[in-house]
Amino acid sequence: MAVDALDLEVPEGKTAVLVGPSGCGKTTSLRMINRLVEPSDGRVLLGGRDVKEASPARLRRGIGYVIQQTGLFPHRTVEDNIATVPLLNGWSRRRARSRARELLDLVGLGQALARRYPYQLSGGEQQRVGVARALAADPAVLLMDEPFSAVDPLVRASLQDQLITLQSELRKTIVLVTHDIEEAIKVGDLVALYRPGGRLAQVATPERLLGAPADSYVAGFVGFDRGIRRLSFVPAAGLNLSAGTVLGADATAAKALATGEPWILLTDDGRPGGWIPAARLLAMPGDTPLGQVRAEAFGHTFTAGGSLRAALDAAVLSPAGQAICVDEDGRVAGVASFDQLRAAIAAADAAGGAAGAMSAQTAGAAGEQPGDRP
Ligand SMILES: Nc1ncnc2c1ncn2[C@@H]1O[C@H](COP(=O)(O)OP(=O)(O)OP(=O)(O)O)[C@@H](O)[C@H]1O
Ligand SMILES: [Mg+2]
Repeated sequence: MAVDALDLEVPEGKTAVLVGPSGCGKTTSLRMINRLVEPSDGRVLLGGRDVKEASPARLRRGIGYVIQQTGLFPHRTVEDNIATVPLLNGWSRRRARSRARELLDLVGLGQALARRYPYQLSGGEQQRVGVARALAADPAVLLMDEPFSAVDPLVRASLQDQLITLQSELRKTIVLVTHDIEEAIKVGDLVALYRPGGRLAQVATPERLLGAPADSYVAGFVGFDRGIRRLSFVPAAGLNLSAGTVLGADATAAKALATGEPWILLTDDGRPGGWIPAARLLAMPGDTPLGQVRAEAFGHTFTAGGSLRAALDAAVLSPAGQAICVDEDGRVAGVASFDQLRAAIAAADAAGGAAGAMSAQTAGAAGEQPGDRP
C-alpha cells in the first residue's frame, strides 16, 4: 500500500505542501485527488463533494495539474500547450490562444516564446509553461508535483517567489508536492510531512513544524537549526528597541563616553554610518567630533516589518552585537541587543509557539491536525 490512513484537510484558497522522502506516497496522494489513482479505501472530498461523483475527464478539467518533469507536449508550441484545456473545454482557438498569451505574462514569460516548442526553452521556462498550462482554465484547485525540481537553486528560488506572489493574487487551493523541506516551509500555509510507508508524521503550519515538531523523525527532517529558522515567522515588531547609543557626526567624544556604552552608533542624517568602540575615544580630546573618528562597518539592518530572524542575523553580523532597526526611509529607529532579542523570542514563545501576529496571513491554515492516526 503506497498511502495508508491519510487524513488531511486542505483549506480553500491555501497552499498545502506534501513533503517526505522519495517513495513515501506523495505523488500517489496527489493523483488520488484527480482520480489518476483510485483509493482502495476512503474518500477524497473536493469542496465537500466526493471526487467519484464527477467523471474523471470532467473532474480533471477543473483541476490544474503540474506534473513532475513538466510533461509538456513536445510537438505543440508553447501557446498550444497552454491552450490545451481551454480547447478541450470548447473554447475557440482564437480565444484559447489569447488566454495563453495572457498566462505567459502572468508567469513572467515574454510573448516572444509563444510560438516556440518546449525543446527551445530552458528548464525554468518549461516549468513556468507547465504552471501556465495548469492555470489556463482558471481552476479553483491546482495540483503541483515537484514543479521546481529540474532547475538550479537560483531559478528555483525565483520560481518559488513567483508562486507566492501569484498565489497572493489568485488564491487557488494548491496542493504541492516536494521532497525539499525548505521549499515546503517557504511556500506552504500548511505542511504535511510523510513518513516512509505513506503515513503522515505531522500536519502543521511551517512555524509549528519548526517550533514544535511532533517527534524525533519530524525534528530530524526539518533540520538542526529549526530554532533559528522558525524565527522567520515571528515579527520583529514586538522587539523593544533602545535609542541611547545613537549619535550624529557632530556629537563629541566626551558626549559619547558619557553614555557609558561600549559601542556608539554613528549616524549621518539619521542613517546608520558605523559603530565606534568607546575604547577608541579614550585617548582622544573630549571635543573631537565623532565624524572624525574611524567607525566599524555596521553590517546590515532590519525593519520592524521584518522578522526576528532578520533582526537576529543583523545582531550576529554586527561588530557591536546589536541589530540596527531602520524605518522605510532607512533612518535609524533604534537598536536591539542580544538580551532584547532573547526577551522578544521568549515573549513570542509564551504567546503561543512561534506563531505571532505574522501568522495572520496563514490563520486559515492554523488548525493543526493530528498526524499519525492508528
Ligand atoms: N502505479 C503504481 N503501482 C504500484 N505501486 C506504485 C505505483 N506508483 C507508485 N507506486 C509505489 O508507491 C509508493 C509511493 O510512490 P509515489 O510515487 O507516490 O512516491 P513519491 O513520494 O511521489 O516519491 P518521489 O519523491 O520519488 O516522487 C512507492 O513505493 C512506489 O514504488
Ligand atoms: Mg513523486
